Amino acid sequence: MRDSFGRVATDLRVSLTDRCNLRCSYCMPPEGLDWLPKPELLTAEEIVRLVAIGVERLGITEVRYTGGEPLLRRELVDIVARTTALAPRPQVSLTTNGIGLARLAGPLAAAGLDRVNVSLDTLDRETFVKLAHRDRLADVLAGLAAAEAAGLRPVKINAVLMRGVNDHEAVPLLRYCLDKGYELRFIEQMPLDAQHGWRRENMITADEILATLQASFDLTDADPAERGSAPAELFLVGGGPARVGVIGSVTRPFCGACDRVRLTADGQIRNCLFATDESDLRAAMRSGVSDDELAERWLAAVRIKKAGHGIDDPAFLQPSRPMSAIGG
Ligand code: GTP
Ligand code: 5AD
Ligand code: SF4
Repeated sequence: MRDSFGRVATDLRVSLTDRCNLRCSYCMPPEGLDWLPKPELLTAEEIVRLVAIGVERLGITEVRYTGGEPLLRRELVDIVARTTALAPRPQVSLTTNGIGLARLAGPLAAAGLDRVNVSLDTLDRETFVKLAHRDRLADVLAGLAAAEAAGLRPVKINAVLMRGVNDHEAVPLLRYCLDKGYELRFIEQMPLDAQHGWRRENMITADEILATLQASFDLTDADPAERGSAPAELFLVGGGPARVGVIGSVTRPFCGACDRVRLTADGQIRNCLFATDESDLRAAMRSGVSDDELAERWLAAVRIKKAGHGIDDPAFLQPSRPMSAIGG
């Protein structure tokens, strides 16, 4: 699936639900959002049909299940099993807040899941409650331990730093991850929250994160050839092999190498997190169109992908749907 700038989409990110059991303030308000009504969600059958078209006909080699919180989707283990059974077998991963992994890591590994990325923004219980509005830090840590035990490696950790909330925790978070053998990535906050509360001046930038880490750790550039289309810039800690990543989506955009395409929980193809248009494959499927026709529509949606997210453009408008609905 090639766009007009020559980029080829091989990485499919599928949101399985827009619901979540946390309320991280960079994502949604404490009271939650109006969740999609069930009939609007793709069924497990519909999800697997579209993923199969992506893998078998359109060159998708990596499938990542996200949300909202994908562990809330009851059929998750079955969806993963059916995805890993496709040929050619795609890499299958999950981005989750970790709550529920203590129970599900084993069954997911047995279904063929390759690895997990888990959000962990703080190691302090009070800060967790302040940031996520739920007292669930212990569940996240138990989930991480279970993922490790189930062999879902490497475990990657995503941390969004917020000024005055958890930005003093960069060093302790890295110490913790080094100790546990997790690959930590710090993420610049993007304007994708439902409340539209993002302000550039409040964002902790990649430069700031690196300056903070460099004061306590010896960081050197990892081999840039290893990065490919990954959002994280990687650094060796203490000469390696341990690494830490910085995802500078805003100040160090990687749109030029983007290989992603997204499928929302309600069956819309989005060619970018920040796309203004979506292509409605759910309506197409439910009107009875063939796999050939679905593949054609999907190709057409990717072809018109824009060059970049345009956050620096004075006319930038935040997408009408928040990250929890688009898929993280
Ligand atoms: P791997 O490195 O393959 O494990 O995946 P990943 O880092 O892409 O996946 P993950 O779901 O953990 O995403 C981490 C962060 O990358 C997200 O929180 C986003 O901030 C950022 N990100 C993911 N996809 C995109 C994208 O398409 N565009 C931009 N700008 N940022 C993205
Ligand atoms: N900016 C950057 N990252 C975000 N995430 C959620 N909302 C935002 C945002 N506004 C991250 C979560 C999760 C990943 C899927 O996206 O921390 O790890
Ligand atoms: Fe939930 Fe993820 Fe949003 Fe946090 S960032 S509220 S874990 S969907």
